[in-house]
Amino acid sequence: LTATSGFVNLDRENITPSVTPHIQPHATPRLHDLTFGRVVGRGAYSTVVLATGPSSELKVSSKASSIPSSKASSLLSSEKPLSSEKSRLSSDKPRSASDLSYAVKIINKRFLLRERKAKYAALEKAALVRLRDCPGVVRLHATFQDRESLYFVLEYAPHGDLLALLRRHGSLSRAVTCHYAAQLLSAIGALHSVGVIHRDIKPENVLLDSHYRAKLTDFGTAALLPQTHSNLEQVSRHVTTSFVGTAEYVPPELLAAGHADGTCDLWAWACVVFQLIAGRPPFQARNEFLTFQNVMAVRYTYPPGFPSDLKDLLRRVLRHEPRQRLLQPQITQHQFFAHTDFSEALWDKPPPPFGPYES
Ligand code: ADE
Repeated sequence: LTATSGFVNLDRENITPSVTPHIQPHATPRLHDLTFGRVVGRGAYSTVVLATGPSSELKVSSKASSIPSSKASSLLSSEKPLSSEKSRLSSDKPRSASDLSYAVKIINKRFLLRERKAKYAALEKAALVRLRDCPGVVRLHATFQDRESLYFVLEYAPHGDLLALLRRHGSLSRAVTCHYAAQLLSAIGALHSVGVIHRDIKPENVLLDSHYRAKLTDFGTAALLPQTHSNLEQVSRHVTTSFVGTAEYVPPELLAAGHADGTCDLWAWACVVFQLIAGRPPFQARNEFLTFQNVMAVRYTYPPGFPSDLKDLLRRVLRHEPRQRLLQPQITQHQFFAHTDFSEALWDKPPPPFGPYES
């Protein structure tokens, strides 16, 4: 993808110089409504590009997915748009000052098929569709495709991610940690209530929106439980997987037995909360092998001055045996959250001033 300084229009500029772009003249999605700008992120098989476009009602199909993962080759067909007719960006309104910014995740289909990752794109869309009304999740506004790429039009979160924030300050104050720990926990609760397990929660996957609210992103490795069964109990169902998330944040059972349930998100949550105060995740070691050994032994040490109530909470979540871990509702009732309001108000309050942890 060409990083461009000014804005360019996809129909005028080749965004994938190695492959001829094929925006169909009658392509279902109104890709032309978007004006593309700079690259704001890169993943293993995708690039995220800032774009502006109409702020009109954007709808995305509520069908779980129309990317047939079993027939991955159909991804190459531009006749099968990702979204239904209703799913496109509406361009009826003229471009105006009310245009919004979007983060458009562009996934190269050839790469997806070559790497047998088509099902991850389908999963990501299905998860984001289920989570459209969840305040702690980056919103999916529309999806479409052309011959080369899949496009996910996402809410743009302009304030970077939690890792960048943490790096700027070294660590975060107790008040800021408590604020983001609560928002993240609430988001995880919402995910689990609709049968979505994220499986790769880490600071890089927590974006900050225009109001500095936490927004979970990157659902490409999520597990989806059948929606008819989705409730908090069903999230305790094991999902067998060959997937292992990020070394520092994976629970022991995923390493040992290759399966995990919803508690894997709470394990990762505890690791992130530890990291916000300590400046480093609990099981981090010189290399991945040593990190895994620490995880398997649940071996970690707190830096001096770590708050004792948070120690108590994290100790109850970072238990080797998943069934012994505190669950989401119990965590919200812990002393550490004694002054936290877990109602909708959680999303209305701005974060406390940013600064490092001082014991
Ligand atoms: N990087 C990846 N996704 C993003 C988003 N939705 N907003 C801003 N930056 C991003």
